[in-house]
Amino acid sequence: MHPTSTLLSLALLGGSVGARPSAGLGSNHHHHLHQKRSSSSSSHAAAPRGAGAKTLPIASSQPTGAATVPADFLGLNIESSFMNNYNNAFSNNLVSALAKRMSVPPVVRIGGTSGDEFVFDEGQTDHVKICVEGECPTGSAASYKIGPGFFEAYKAYPDAKMTIQAPLGPNVNETLVREFVRRAWEARVGAVGSEWKSKIDAIALGNEPEFYTSDVTKYVRDTLELERIVLDELKLEGDDQKIFEAGNNAKQPVSQYDVADILKQGMNKNGLTKATAEHLYQIDTTQEWTDATMQRLMLSHKAITERLDTQYMPSLRASVAEGVPYMISETAAVLASPINTFVSGFGFALWLVDFSLANAARGVARVNHMGGRPVANHVLWTPDHTAGLRNPGPQARAPFAAACFVADFLRPTSGGAGAGIGGDNDSGDDYGLESGDDSGSGSGGLAGSDGSDGGVNPFTVFNEKREQDAHVVDAEEDVTIQELDLDTEANPHLSAYAVYSSGRLGRVALVNMRLYNGTAAAAGNGGYVERGSEVFQIPVGDGVEEVQVQRLHADLGAAAMGYDYGGEQHNVTWAGEQWSKKVDEGKGHFTQGGSQVVEIVKVSGGVASVEVPDSEAVMVVM
Ligand SMILES: *[C@@H]1O[C@H](CO)[C@@H](O)[C@H](O)[C@H]1NC(C)=O
Ligand SMILES: *[C@@H]1O[C@H](CO)[C@@H](O)[C@H](O)[C@H]1NC(C)=O
Ligand SMILES: *[C@@H]1O[C@H](CO)[C@@H](O)[C@H](O)[C@H]1NC(C)=O
Ligand SMILES: *[C@@H]1O[C@H](CO)[C@@H](O)[C@H](O)[C@H]1NC(C)=O
Repeated sequence: MHPTSTLLSLALLGGSVGARPSAGLGSNHHHHLHQKRSSSSSSHAAAPRGAGAKTLPIASSQPTGAATVPADFLGLNIESSFMNNYNNAFSNNLVSALAKRMSVPPVVRIGGTSGDEFVFDEGQTDHVKICVEGECPTGSAASYKIGPGFFEAYKAYPDAKMTIQAPLGPNVNETLVREFVRRAWEARVGAVGSEWKSKIDAIALGNEPEFYTSDVTKYVRDTLELERIVLDELKLEGDDQKIFEAGNNAKQPVSQYDVADILKQGMNKNGLTKATAEHLYQIDTTQEWTDATMQRLMLSHKAITERLDTQYMPSLRASVAEGVPYMISETAAVLASPINTFVSGFGFALWLVDFSLANAARGVARVNHMGGRPVANHVLWTPDHTAGLRNPGPQARAPFAAACFVADFLRPTSGGAGAGIGGDNDSGDDYGLESGDDSGSGSGGLAGSDGSDGGVNPFTVFNEKREQDAHVVDAEEDVTIQELDLDTEANPHLSAYAVYSSGRLGRVALVNMRLYNGTAAAAGNGGYVERGSEVFQIPVGDGVEEVQVQRLHADLGAAAMGYDYGGEQHNVTWAGEQWSKKVDEGKGHFTQGGSQVVEIVKVSGGVASVEVPDSEAVMVVM
């Protein structure tokens, strides 16, 4: 423990079964703050490195270089043809768990290769879809004949928005485009002409077009034709016509053209491009999978930012120059590998934190993380067991907790966690705390049953406390982020970010990606068996006496696979909360006695010292 800090564990009791406050913000005025000395804080296990603490170059009020973060920065991504696999309670609960942490609905992109290869058959009422070609029944090169029942799945995720992909392919098929887009739209919003803006974010113009045409002028010609068909079919007028998401370029392994090129060819001459998008997989498939490659290629701020800066920022600049937001609409740390520990575990979780925040700090408007498809292992969760033992499910995987970390970190400071849809309105928010219903629960009724009643949001307590600061709770409040320079050449595995809300320093994220492999440590071999730590000195400015610290933690470090996959040795928690199919059906539960884990660090001489073990990320709240 750092000598100048006192680490306490602050257990914010979310009410217990039988003594539970009714619902919402208004009724939560009487929670008890249980402060106790922590004997098992993760930070205590690690030994600080000798090199000395790192002082963060941080400004207490918003610096000019800070990037504005859209409230819907964090999104998800699900492969078109598997929509129906994801239209289940588990997946809906996971999406809601994210939505409740955000001040506006998150956007779920429904798209992908299969979305350009559909054949629609109105008479096919006995099957939602039939695999007709390619790697049937589930491979990434499979294509499907769909019937009317397919579109049922577009009703999923009531507290999120969707992006619908208009099918493109080598040739525009007007019949298919009209049928597909109209039916998806009608399923989502009721009917053409209904209010749609709270349910649909954009219509994407195909997916990874480089795979079926190498000619950028053909892409632009075809997509302008697509736009015409969609606008006509959906009867969109005026400003509503600016609904199109262009690009969705693969970038790799084919990269004949990208967002910068399509804009140069006049993609947005008609002003109807709402956003541009590209895809990014950090590591390709032809890889030797060792801890050393994971450290060098995945758990590396240097590797993450070099890739972004050289290959993606030119597209961002080209897009922003035309006033069009730029997004990474499909991404994962690894494109494909048979080894789940490298693709689907806590290493991916730590990558997700740093990657997301590095993108936010560069002005990327949104990052959509992987729901994926059932056979894909580079995902935040698997929806079912259709991929069999190749990629078992249903399971929440380690990176899901990281997405919750990012959502919490980027929320308006005054909005508090769980501010929910509509921002300041906490009523009805169930934050995954116990609700007294123990349906499906393996560990004592931790699962809320329907999200409609009064689990207590522990952050509410913080918000009440912070009302003294006259912070107005406001979902529209500007959030900006700045990456803090820690000398990436010297410290490739470390990163730090500051978030400002209404111009004031609100939170700091500290990411220590030095690889610790708890499985190897238990076996007593390998090169990554010692868990050290870094101490960060945060100058917090005058008047701040203490800060709160919460951890994205796994005892096994990068080797942790999450509870559903690996059992309780493999737990992955964010502030003590974990998401699991088995325990909570995706709603989230607290592993340590049903309460959130928050440490209080006392400020000494205007500086808060925060220790971060290897393979861990923390959020510091001012
Ligand atoms: C266009 O799409 C429809 C519906 O999927 C299909 O029946 C038709 O064969 C397609 N036309 C061409 C030329 O591929
Ligand atoms: C919160 O939600 C309730 C019910 O939907 C609504 O009546 C109320 O106006 C909302 N409050 C705010 C501050 O938006
Ligand atoms: C960790 O160590 C175990 C045991 O040596 C090994 O099987 C595994 O590949 C290593 N890496 C990860 C990320 O789990
Ligand atoms: C891991 O999570 C499970 C499910 O919540 C819980 O029962 C168990 O106590 C946790 N184990 C550890 C070591 O925290």
